[in-house]
Amino acid sequence: MPEPLLMKYVGRPGRDAVDEYVRTGGYEAAARALKELTPDDLVAMVEASGLRGRGGAGFPTGRKWRLTPKREGDVRYLVVNADEGEPGTFKDRTLIEGDPHQILEGVLIASYANRVHRAFIYVRGEMFLGYERLRRALEGAYARGFFGRNILGTGFDLDVTLHRGAGSYECGEETALLESLEGRRGEPRVKPPYYPAVKGLYGRPTVLNNAETLAHIPHIVRLGADGYKAYGPPILYSVSGHVTRPGVKELPIGTSLREIIFEHAGGLRPGRTFKAVFPGGSSAAILTAEHLDTPADFDSLAKLGSMLGSSAIIVMDDTTCIPAVIRRTVEFYRDESCGKCTPCREGTIWLSQILDRILDGHGRMTDLELMDGIAQQMTGLCLCALGESVPPALRASLTYFRDEYLHHIRAGSCDVVRAPVAAGGASG
Ligand SMILES: Cc1cc2nc3c(=O)[nH]c(=O)nc-3n(C[C@H](O)[C@H](O)[C@H](O)COP(=O)(O)O)c2cc1C
Ligand code: SF4
Repeated sequence: MPEPLLMKYVGRPGRDAVDEYVRTGGYEAAARALKELTPDDLVAMVEASGLRGRGGAGFPTGRKWRLTPKREGDVRYLVVNADEGEPGTFKDRTLIEGDPHQILEGVLIASYANRVHRAFIYVRGEMFLGYERLRRALEGAYARGFFGRNILGTGFDLDVTLHRGAGSYECGEETALLESLEGRRGEPRVKPPYYPAVKGLYGRPTVLNNAETLAHIPHIVRLGADGYKAYGPPILYSVSGHVTRPGVKELPIGTSLREIIFEHAGGLRPGRTFKAVFPGGSSAAILTAEHLDTPADFDSLAKLGSMLGSSAIIVMDDTTCIPAVIRRTVEFYRDESCGKCTPCREGTIWLSQILDRILDGHGRMTDLELMDGIAQQMTGLCLCALGESVPPALRASLTYFRDEYLHHIRAGSCDVVRAPVAAGGASG
């Protein structure tokens, strides 16, 4: 197992101080990028590294940068998505609190590569500590000349603005985020244009990347594309739920779900058996024990009809009632729906009403087909991926755990035994 790149110093005190970051080689990659490489060299290097966005969609970062028009004299922006609202996801917050200069150094290099002179970091409203650390880190970096005018004597200028969101999941969707940043209600923009690359913030070409995505950039510059790839390439998995050692695990991308859960996250509580997992946050279709040997990467999980998403692995053992989990998940999307389009606004309400009925012991045999039909009518018809996120988990639960729904409908009660955790070994 190679040593961690992004998590190496997370957990050490004082990492928001610029001197401490510089002491461990911080901003050397940025200095090299600005002094020795051209913007085009950097775009090519990031493309060659194979880095794919860590915000959820897995779009190749180098390609996104190449797509952004770079006409001489045009104003362009860089926007960092640090909204991190996907249930089960806490890797951006861990980086922001634990080693914020990594993200700032990524912002500096990405701005130079994209010929951007103004960047915005959109920070989740509830990240109180993270915001403070990021603010302190930025202040220190400005004081040492890593931001502002004529950075490191290269003639390159860059200003960075921190912006706090108000705690809305939907504001993590890139066009809703831009609306919110411009001071309007956080609702997605109608597409096309499909990406902010051409028409983004204030109608200008905009590179929008996730916070973790940008934290990879200094390592790519420092190690070169091949050196970086030798680390996996790395990814941060947020592991939570019924495991004994939850937390952020930096591992080579494509580590199997089994290894992540049973080796790196300590396995299940004693005496419990594995039941199901969300492999990419609650927007990903749930998987079962038969899928545990699947590599946790973008393509392998997509083949199973699920996704890597924000790489948040939520583990459920045999004490879990799956219809109850799905109800809780649907309620989340119902409450966070911005209401702009009908399939999501109405579909999430209808689904949560039916799930209430089933879990309250008044379910009907026709309810499963009814829910499947609603999920079908939402698929491909929502304006953004929030509404599209509801059907996969619901439909997977209807496939893999149909018996649990049927038991609730027939018996009017739950058959999951929530026995006290017994002593003994965990099993997969
Ligand atoms: C409802 C919703 C919420 C999202 N929340 C986030 C988020 O909190 N952070 C994030 O980086 N991307 C989030 N995304 C994905 C962004 O729209 C976008 O794809 C991503 O920020 C692009 O960065 P990347 O290419 O570096 O992954 C969300 C998408 C949707 C539909
Ligand atoms: S899918 Fe939901 S969150 Fe997205 S625009 Fe439609 S109503 Fe709003």
